[in-house]
Amino acid sequence: MENKKKQTDNDNSIEITIANEKHYGYVNTILDTIEQGSKARGTGIARRSPEYILNKMKEGKAIIAIADGDTFAGFCYIETWSNKNFVANSGLIVAPQFRGKGLAKRIKHKAFELSRKCYPDAKIFGITTGLAVMKINTEIGYRPVTFSELTDDPEYWKECEACVNFDVLKRNNYTRCLCTGMLYDPAEHKGNEMPWLNEEHKKETLLHRWKEALKKIFSIQTASGTYKGSNKDIEN
Ligand SMILES: CC(C)(COP(=O)(O)OP(=O)(O)OC[C@H]1O[C@@H](n2cnc3c(N)ncnc32)[C@H](O)[C@@H]1OP(=O)(O)O)[C@@H](O)C(=O)NCCC(=O)NCCS
Repeated sequence: MENKKKQTDNDNSIEITIANEKHYGYVNTILDTIEQGSKARGTGIARRSPEYILNKMKEGKAIIAIADGDTFAGFCYIETWSNKNFVANSGLIVAPQFRGKGLAKRIKHKAFELSRKCYPDAKIFGITTGLAVMKINTEIGYRPVTFSELTDDPEYWKECEACVNFDVLKRNNYTRCLCTGMLYDPAEHKGNEMPWLNEEHKKETLLHRWKEALKKIFSIQTASGTYKGSNKDIEN
């Protein structure tokens, strides 16, 4: 297992990328694989329409793994909650023949990287009963939390209605259920990001922070009448 896993960890025949127009044709395969995975585990899932998944691809908010040029191997997407203060990496799926080889970890790393790039100040979170996901999240730097630490956006919790355990969540007034809540708070990892977050991403994140800080300074000065320019001065 260990040898096999090491081989696949460096397997260049599986390409993991941000999904784009080349991948629109995989939407139904993705949804079927998610459905089968959830049936096998005996849990519910947040059911997504083909349009929703397609839209995630169009927005550049989905990660896809393709083996040998055209075989679907895995998928995950990111979505925001509570006015973009929270990001969730959702819909993680690895096709059965590619499981147990480190692929979910590689996909989650890419989704995490995308989340940090798109929403540098947002907290990243997930809820799961799956040991694999708990392991991957813990390695990235997530910590287990109670649901009170997560988004209170009702739209997020509405997704749990499709889960077989929804009655437990409802009975507990949305404060606890069988899933473990996991949270990555970037404020707790300043200067201490995962080593696999590449240098380019780190530079972009820093640049974004500077731009946001400058915007704040300029808007304060504008409000007090000392600055006559516009915020557009410091946009790309
Ligand atoms: C869960 C799933 C995504 C894991 O994909 P994978 O590619 O096999 O996972 P990886 O090989 O990257 O494994 C990551 C870690 O989890 C462990 N792991 C993988 N599958 C596991 C399982 N079923 N039970 C316990 N641990 C598991 C691995 O040993 C590895 O741990 P390590 O880093 O300590 O060695 C895949 O089995 C799947 O798609 N299942 C159906 C859908 C699902 O459950 N999605 C998650 C929803 S929360």
